[in-house]
Amino acid sequence: ELSPIDRAKFVAAKRAVDFVEDGMRVGLGTGSTAAWMVRCLGELVRDEGLKIRGIPTSTRTAELARQVGIEVTSLDEAKWLDLTIDGADEFDDELNLIKGGGGALLQEKIVATASDQMIVIADVAKQVSNLGAFPLPVEVIPFGWQTTKALVEETLVSLDVLGRETTLRMNGTSPFVTDEGNYIVDLHLNRISNARQMALVMNQIPGVVENGLFIDICDVVIIGHGDGKVEIRD
Ligand code: A5P
Repeated sequence: ELSPIDRAKFVAAKRAVDFVEDGMRVGLGTGSTAAWMVRCLGELVRDEGLKIRGIPTSTRTAELARQVGIEVTSLDEAKWLDLTIDGADEFDDELNLIKGGGGALLQEKIVATASDQMIVIADVAKQVSNLGAFPLPVEVIPFGWQTTKALVEETLVSLDVLGRETTLRMNGTSPFVTDEGNYIVDLHLNRISNARQMALVMNQIPGVVENGLFIDICDVVIIGHGDGKVEIRD
């Protein structure tokens, strides 16, 4: 028996795999919601003979995809994808997102951008009227990270945000390291009034590789509820 939150994630994931057709190259997201989707896809591959190639957005997802019997390939081999299905930490009315709570934002953004369509699957708690309550992940190169973090803080002063605290993401007593060998600085902003500007400005700072704002990338959000209901926004 699933908890309401897991049921919400599961029903959204289950609905999303209806969009997958034979022969598609499918971007596979990262996180607990995306993991449900990978399992559902695996079932279709095993039980219904669905033929797809999966392009994972993290080593974690690659491992799970192989376990459940999905043929895994690289983005370079696939070149262009039909569809990416991924979770999110927040989504707003314009279907803009914050992602990267799981630390996979860089590969996730590259894969989603290389796809004809991005579908986000999320429980209803991820729906917000304003992005920013969830800390915004910013991926930085380890070289000079403290200087980069200071520059990020300085940049925040010039932007209209409520909070300006930044923290280096940790894994126990050492910095959390992404699949690409980078660090993550989390920005505790509380509210981002101009997400588009924030996304552009962050990526101009030397040492910043990418940020977790997904602007105009997501096409559809499938929202799962604890009682099993599903809503589709596009
Ligand atoms: C991974 O880096 C993230 O972008 C995830 O997609 C996001 O954190 C959602 O994760 P959950 O589905 O576990 O909430």
